[in-house]
Amino acid sequence: MRAGGRAICIVEDDPIMGEALRDRLELEGFAVDWLRTAGSARAAIAGTRYDMLICDDRLPDGTGGDLFAALNETAPTPLPPTVFITGFGSIDRAVALLKLGAMDYVTKPFDIEDLLGKINAHCGPGADRTGGRTRAPVLGVSGAMRDLEATLHRIAAYAPHTVITGESGAGKEVVARRLHALAFPGQERPFIAVDCGALSEALLESELFGHERGAFTGAVRARRGVFEQADGGTLFFDEIANMPLGMQVKLLRVLQDRLVVRVGGEQRRAIEFRLMCATNRDLKPLVACGEFREDLYYRINVVHIEVPPLRERHEDVLWLADRFLAAYNEAHPTHSRRWGVAARESLVHYPWPGNVRELKHCIERAWVMSRGPALKCDDLFSGLESVTAGRHGRDPDLKAYLRGCERAHIVEVLMRNDGTIGRTAAELGISRKSLWERMRRLGIGALR
Ligand SMILES: Nc1ncnc2c1ncn2[C@@H]1O[C@H](COP(=O)(O)OP(=O)(O)OP(=O)(O)O)[C@@H](O)[C@H]1O
Ligand SMILES: [Mg+2]
Repeated sequence: MRAGGRAICIVEDDPIMGEALRDRLELEGFAVDWLRTAGSARAAIAGTRYDMLICDDRLPDGTGGDLFAALNETAPTPLPPTVFITGFGSIDRAVALLKLGAMDYVTKPFDIEDLLGKINAHCGPGADRTGGRTRAPVLGVSGAMRDLEATLHRIAAYAPHTVITGESGAGKEVVARRLHALAFPGQERPFIAVDCGALSEALLESELFGHERGAFTGAVRARRGVFEQADGGTLFFDEIANMPLGMQVKLLRVLQDRLVVRVGGEQRRAIEFRLMCATNRDLKPLVACGEFREDLYYRINVVHIEVPPLRERHEDVLWLADRFLAAYNEAHPTHSRRWGVAARESLVHYPWPGNVRELKHCIERAWVMSRGPALKCDDLFSGLESVTAGRHGRDPDLKAYLRGCERAHIVEVLMRNDGTIGRTAAELGISRKSLWERMRRLGIGALR
């Protein structure tokens, strides 16, 4: 039965890749049949009108190429456009398949987005693509961020595993939290963030799975791991590329079985969570060189979201800057600040190598350092210039550079502590008096 949408046949014996492809294509609105052998595919393709065929070349009962050639001989109507999935490094084979009449190919490891691009280019999108470009912007006003927001709306209800990539500070965690909010509207569900790079392998295991009392020296109390904590909500793995290989195997098993056993325990506990992973490294080359498991890569990468760097979405710079300024003004109404002449526009000309995080800090700093209610270009960029003096060549003097670093650091800790001198001084490890003196010397105004 084909109700409207376009139909795609996947021929793939690998259970993880087949499932990932099926889930993603259904999400895009396609009707999908998934066959696991050349034999069963032959019968299905002969008896069904598909709009497209996605075929692994290596199948348990023959090659995809042989299947394609045989069907070409016998089918009464031309075969649908076919994309083959070929093994890593087998360019010769891919060329042979193209000669046979294949429309295109992807080489393992591949990104589902690339395959989807090829499918959409030839087959058009599936039926059910409810866009979201008319909604009020939440992440940004640029076309790229509006498209991204629309994607989040589209996938929120389906809970596919999602990988979010992008440069440091671009907003990967913000995107993950937005997807979480859309997935569980109006509900208090856990969002558990784990930095995979910050834990040793030994610690990671008890952190992820939890432990029973007495499981190891120091385990005085039983503790739930992050899988259990995320039950019913979202588990966000930050820097997934840093997850040790041994742990990747265990994660894969949890995703498969949806069961966890605490370290030192025996009870199997059922869990259900939505997985989002972030990375600022491309996983594909890591898969190719064996540092990241291929099966896990396909399992988690059903939807891939790329957060573009801020320099590629200029429209967002001023929009974000206005929001950050408004937020500080709201938090400190007695010190309200506004944009001075040309200050706001000057933000567009800076490349923001640290992305949104850098923009946010820049405005925080300017807000604190400004001596009057109008923010000036100097307020915005003096901190940046001193911290990045080497890069811009403006202030090679070591003393001035160190002064800039000191100032930027104190302002950051002050902001974090809401301007409270006592807490800031304690965090900086200096006395309140010394902090006051430094603030006076560096021209930092009091927040409260
Ligand atoms: N669209 C946005 N709207 C408002 N604030 C944002 C947005 N994107 C990012 N930010 C802010 O920028 C900072 C960095 O964002 P985030 O932590 O999500 O980046 P990231 O890509 O996860 O960075 P990293 O790779 O360093 O972990 C945060 O303070 C966040 O609040
Ligand atoms: Mg992050």
